[in-house]
Parts: sequence; C-alpha cells; structure tokens
Amino acid sequence: MCTDNDPARIATLEAGRAPIYEPHLDTVLATARSAGRLAFTRSAGEAVRAGDNIFICVGTPPRQTGEADLSAIDNVARIIATEARTPKLVIEKSTVPAQTGLQLKRALAVYGRKNGLTLRVASNPEFLREGTAVEDFMHPDRIVVGVEDEGSEKQLREIYRPILEGSRHCPVHTAACPPAPAPHMLVTSMTSSELIKHASNSFLALKISYANVLADLCERLGADVEEVTSAMGLDPRIGPQFLRAGLGFGGFCLPKDVQAFVRLAESVGVDFGLLKEAERVNRRRVGLFLDEVRRALWVVKDKQVGVLGLAFKPNTDDVRLAPAIEVIRQLAAEGVQVRASDPQAMEKARAILPDVEYVRDPYEVAKNADALLITTEWEEFRRMDWKRIRDVMARPLVLDGRNLLDPVQMKALGFEYYSVGRPDAQAKLKRRRNSAIVIQAFTALKPVLQEGHLSKTAILEARPSSRDRTKRQPLEPGNP
Ligand code: UDX
Repeated sequence: MCTDNDPARIATLEAGRAPIYEPHLDTVLATARSAGRLAFTRSAGEAVRAGDNIFICVGTPPRQTGEADLSAIDNVARIIATEARTPKLVIEKSTVPAQTGLQLKRALAVYGRKNGLTLRVASNPEFLREGTAVEDFMHPDRIVVGVEDEGSEKQLREIYRPILEGSRHCPVHTAACPPAPAPHMLVTSMTSSELIKHASNSFLALKISYANVLADLCERLGADVEEVTSAMGLDPRIGPQFLRAGLGFGGFCLPKDVQAFVRLAESVGVDFGLLKEAERVNRRRVGLFLDEVRRALWVVKDKQVGVLGLAFKPNTDDVRLAPAIEVIRQLAAEGVQVRASDPQAMEKARAILPDVEYVRDPYEVAKNADALLITTEWEEFRRMDWKRIRDVMARPLVLDGRNLLDPVQMKALGFEYYSVGRPDAQAKLKRRRNSAIVIQAFTALKPVLQEGHLSKTAILEARPSSRDRTKRQPLEPGNP
C-alpha cells in the first residue's frame, strides 16, 4: 500500500501510469497491481496501518546552506507515530545524513508517547540509478541494511528474499535473466548504513570530477581523455565506470548528496575539502563548455543554436539540475535563439524554460542552425543520419558536451567538431591509418611466422608497398 501527499500523483498511479518516465516501470506497476500486491491510497493513515514494515521514501532536498532538508522525514514520523495501531519496523529509504535514524527513532518515540507502541527503525539506502532503476533494483550488487536488532534484520531479509534468491521475474529481460552472482546483503549499524550511501555517491562524483580535470589537461597537452581513462579503467583497483568526461554530474542525487556530505562532515569538525573541490570542478563544467561555444561562434547574440538533450542523463525525463538546462538558460540570456529536443524530457523542461522552442523531431533542431550542441548522450542522437544533419545546418558546427560522437568520423563528414578532452582528431586519424598498416603487415607475415623461418626478405615482401599506402582510401564516413 503506497501513499503520497500529492493527490495528482496517486491519481496517475491509480490510472495505471507511472508519474515519471522510467524504462520498465509501467510493466512492474501493472504486474504487481494485477497480482493484487500493489495498491495506492490518498490516506496516509490507511497506508500506515496496512503493513508491519513502512518504507519512508520522501524527498530530502538541499537547503540554502547545502544541508539536507529533513522536514518531510519529520512529517511522516509524526504521521506514522500517531496513525499506527500495531508495532512497526520503520525503514529509511530516503537518502539522509548519518545519524538521522537515531533522530527518527527519538521522534517516533516522542510523537507516539501516548499510544505506547514499539516502533523500531532501520536504514536501507537505495543505490538504483534513474534510467536503469528497475534493472538495478532486480539485480543489485549489494543490499545494505542498518539495524539495531536481529528481528529487524530477519524482517528485511524476508522482504528482499525474492531478490536475494533471484526468484522474481524481471521485466527487463524478456527471457531468463543472464546468470549473475547473488547480491550481497550487508548488515551494518544504522549510522554506517546511512554513511555508505553518501560515501558511495560522493565517491562517484569525485571520479567524474577527476575525469573532467583530466579532460582539461588532455586538451592542453594534445592527449585524448578517452584513451587515458579507458587504460586507467582496466586497472581493477580503479575500474572503468564514472570516468566519462563532459558537462559534469547533474540530477537530484549526486550534486545534493555531495553538498549534504560536506555539510555533515563540517558539522562534526571534519573538513572534506576533497569533495568541495569536486563540487567546484563540477560547477565550472557548463561555463567551460559555453566558453567553447562562444569561441566557435564568435558573436552569439541572435545566432540560431540547436540543443540535443535536456534530461540530466539519457533514459529519463528528469531535468532537475540538468547541465543542459543551465546551458540553455545562459545562452538564452545572451540573446541566442535556442531550439531544443529530447526524447522524453521536453514537457519537464518546458515547465522550467517556457520561452525556448521545443521540437519533437531532432532533425528540426539542426535546421538552419549556426551550431548544434549535444548536452545529453541519448543513443537516439548517436544513431542519427549526420550527413543529413550537416546538409540542413547553416554552419556544420557541432559542440559535443558528452563525447557522444566519433571526432574522426565527424571531421570526415565535414563538420567543425569540438568535444571534451579529445582535441586532435587529425592525429587519431593518422594513428588509425598506421594501425591499419600494422594489421595488414601482420596478416601478410602470419604464414611466414607460422612456418618458423623468418627471413629479412620475407619481412620486406610482407610490408605494404608505398604505392599501396598512397592508394589507400580515406576512412569511410559512416554514422559516427
Ligand atoms: C546516482 C547514483 O549513481 C545511484 O547509485 C544513486 O542511487 C542515485 O544517484 P543517478 O542520479 O540516477 O544515480 O545518476 P548517475 O548515473 O549517477 O549520473 C549522475 C550524473 O553524472 C549524470 O548527470 C551523468 O551524466 C553524470 N556522469 C555519470 C558523468 O558525467 N560521467 C560519468 O562517467 C557518469
């Protein structure tokens, strides 16, 4: 039984629709409802009385100071304590600063002092990402529970049993789910559990900012950030994920969690300067990208600029703290004519920036544009016909803030193309040609090597002649 203080949201859910765009969520809702396992109510009291376990999933937005605003947690604590008629396990799912669980326990005791019920508290942070939330939920790497007693642990194990055993059908995979190791269930203290969530998100933010500074360095030195980070990522101690350079981290989790974590550390006398720097680096990303746009356009006022992508990341309609929104806001303030498109996020963007022209067809965004900006890395954008785009633009200029496209192919198609930390497409093209020559030479040498008598003559014969090399066609431009 689920409840929310927004009646419109409950009405949408009761009508069988998810209030947000999240792949596979509709299927999950429909299946659970038709099996009689899921219901919605406008009455918080009814929801509280419906179960032995209550998950608190309210928002904890940042206050002006960066600290998490816990007033929604306090509100539901009051509702739970006054509406409950039997003992409950109250589980914090919302992302909260360490020690909130202890405060919540105290609040439940104070608000419920007249009914004398036992209201236990546990922490169970969520690690799912928007865009892959259903898959992350069904196939987690870990489930963390912070408890104060064995009974709470037992209850939470029982709740997660289908996930731990992999026995629940997952809508993401139409056939059987691919084999995967069973997720770890980690049982910790409440405070450790709360800390694990903030520590994880902040570390991810740190990785992204590291990759972004590295990208700036690569630009200055003529190196390619993707070559550097992919080699770094092969070291299992580093890992390949969250090293994608670009416009920086947005959304409603990473930026606010980093801030809240810094404030939490400060409140107990610990200076988390490392994270403050990660935040500072992140705040500069949009500005640096816009500097590149201004450099490329020279005069921006009255220019027509197309923007591909509004959501803070692909596969979601969430535009909260999306770098794309900030890019558009600043361009519009400088008198640029902006036309934007996004596969899912246009409605939500319109609510924030009503004066921008939004078009469903991404090719329309490019029409007569002086520049095209890529601000969210939707797969749909990568697969577009870029030759067609080049032909409809007033000037074939692409500024790729997400490194979505291949610089070599974009140059081959005749675009002026800028991306993040990948300065020298020409050098890359030369290297690709050289490695093609090496592969050709090796293929020709293979039989000789296999026979075991490698003579100088054989090597000379196996090398492609200089005539062959000059005859070689330029790289075939396809879709980048
Ligand atoms: C995050 C955490 O990943 C998840 O575990 C937690 O439960 C909720 O917060 P989410 O906000 O959905 O998930 O987005 P995430 O995938 O973490 O991306 C956050 C931002 O970082 C996006 O703007 C994304 O574009 C950016 N990002 C991510 C990069 O710029 N580079 C990367 O390498 C990865």
